[in-house]
Amino acid sequence: MALERTLSIIKPDAVAKNVIGEIYTRFEKAGLKVVAAKMKHLSKQEAEGFYAVHRERPFFNALVEFMISGPVMIQVLEGEGAVLKNRELMGATNPKDAAPGTIRADFADSIDANAVHGSDSLENAAIEVAYFFPATDVFAR
Ligand code: PPS
Repeated sequence: MALERTLSIIKPDAVAKNVIGEIYTRFEKAGLKVVAAKMKHLSKQEAEGFYAVHRERPFFNALVEFMISGPVMIQVLEGEGAVLKNRELMGATNPKDAAPGTIRADFADSIDANAVHGSDSLENAAIEVAYFFPATDVFAR
């Protein structure tokens, strides 16, 4: 498996629940390294730009409003097969469907407030990492 980088966001609901450390522990135990990180309160413009591919979907405005409702923790994860590995750790988009032991099963309340975001492909990972981090802020480890 190839060494990959993926973008992860711990969303406002999980930050408010004070589980950043618990989620980081799951990344690290799965062999993913945090190679960039920052806490940020997204502007509406930043959130709309990040989710631009979903602009036509009925939940777009609710998703943007939720993502700007409080600070988020944004990180780049690096590891073998990092994109899929992170998606597996996250669990299904709707926490009701998320497998036991996944981040969303354990920490998410609803499909609207679902604790984490993770890039869904290697191609999107590169775009999403560059959206939040200049190359100089991502550290090879
Ligand atoms: S995914 O992860 O892209 O396959 O999931 P998808 O179903 O396409 O959803 C894209 C993002 O929209 C969020 N989402 C919702 N937000 C609010 N309300 C509803 N009903 C809803 N359905 C989906 C979902 O969590 C995805 O956000 P991210 O941040 O990518 O996880």
